[in-house]
Amino acid sequence: MFRQAHWNEPVIFQLGRKGRKGHILPAVEAEIRHTKHHPLPSLPKEILRQIPPKLPELSEVEVVRHFTRLSQMNYGVDLGLYPLGSCTMKYNPKLNEFLANTSSLTELHPYQDKSTVQGILEILYTVAKWLAEITGTHEICLQPAAGAQGEFLGALIMRAHHKFNGNIHEKTELIVPDSAHGTNPASGTMAGFNIVIVPSNHEGCVDLDALRSAVTKHTAGLMLTNPNTLGIFEKDIGEIANIVHGVGGLLYYDGANLNAILGKVRPGDMGFDIVHINIHKTFGTPHGGGGPGAGPIGVSEKLEKYLPVPRIVFDGKRFSLDYDRAQSIGKIRSFYGNVAVLMRAYAYILSLGAEGLVEAAEISVLNANYLLKKLSSIHGFELPFAKNRPRKHECVFSLKKLYRETGIRALDFSKRMLDYGMHAPTTYFPQIVEEALRLNQRNPLRKRS
Ligand SMILES: Cc1ncc(COP(=O)(O)O)c(C=O)c1O
Repeated sequence: MFRQAHWNEPVIFQLGRKGRKGHILPAVEAEIRHTKHHPLPSLPKEILRQIPPKLPELSEVEVVRHFTRLSQMNYGVDLGLYPLGSCTMKYNPKLNEFLANTSSLTELHPYQDKSTVQGILEILYTVAKWLAEITGTHEICLQPAAGAQGEFLGALIMRAHHKFNGNIHEKTELIVPDSAHGTNPASGTMAGFNIVIVPSNHEGCVDLDALRSAVTKHTAGLMLTNPNTLGIFEKDIGEIANIVHGVGGLLYYDGANLNAILGKVRPGDMGFDIVHINIHKTFGTPHGGGGPGAGPIGVSEKLEKYLPVPRIVFDGKRFSLDYDRAQSIGKIRSFYGNVAVLMRAYAYILSLGAEGLVEAAEISVLNANYLLKKLSSIHGFELPFAKNRPRKHECVFSLKKLYRETGIRALDFSKRMLDYGMHAPTTYFPQIVEEALRLNQRNPLRKRS
């Protein structure tokens, strides 16, 4: 049985004693004197706090010990198996962490003069070009801070496109399959669309007849992830694209599941007009704890004019920021995006190269099918939909039988895995699977010759 460190650790407010200090800050007046050439603005007296804030008072070593003990009770990818489906990258090379933490990156400020940040602008410009190549899109915007924000931006671009064509009053509906991640309908709704749900067929894919009946002159677009949330590749994607494009709709690719198809097929070539990329899922950022992510979007040529500003541009000599885009939807996030996360993607792509990315895709599929084979023999584990088709980046089981026979739910099963030193897998998603348990696993790459 796995045992993690267990400390009977109180909350920090229960520790310490009055008068203890971890760090002595210089008095504000001394600081002002010290920087008299660049004096700090002083706060107006009326907003100065009279009563000091109730902060815990501890010595530095007490603080360090408190947080170290808490960290030892944490389970993380550095400790063992992390089969959380969908949500996180499982392989986070330490090299990426090192690069993202170098002071030449962390000490940059977005307000610095552009002549002093040519290096990072070049990195961002380059990573955007690589992402465009990988996704088969024309132009990338790095700003969105997560997949969900990329979706929201994508939906706003759909609106801008229909508005530009003079039919925004007609294009009011966004189609989403019933297997979609919850952020898809949420982002579409936030952008002002009415959501139309299409059911999945017995293969776990979009039901083409249902899609044909759902698509009307009101269809603004369709959001789809491929492979879908069951890990199954939507092989009818060509026909799906024709149906949606046939009424002037746009196709949006939710790139959360890009791992499996890296270097194999490109969303742009499948007919998608807008694509987001969950950088923190496909390009080496540890995201399990809900830490910062990045959700750049790529668009086809006709949609480029709507991308947020500023755009990083290169005139052959220097990089600069272009704000002069009349059709742009504006800004979606401050500055250029989550730069440290994008830096990790740069390092990941550079260190793997084109061949390594293909290998990463192949291994993610191999691992998901390995898990599928191993777990299929467990009593009460049933594979819903398309039993004979391989899964891509992950596999989803239904524990409905186990629940009916024993009362053990998917939630109980996944919590019990913690006792064995494994991170709990994702449960109850996608919602079309009863007692869903969803797993994947990413191992370090094989050594290439
Ligand atoms: C299929 C799918 N789409 C979208 C998202 C949302 O991405 P993010 O968590 O980066 O906002 C997720 C997250 O798990 C997902 O699995």
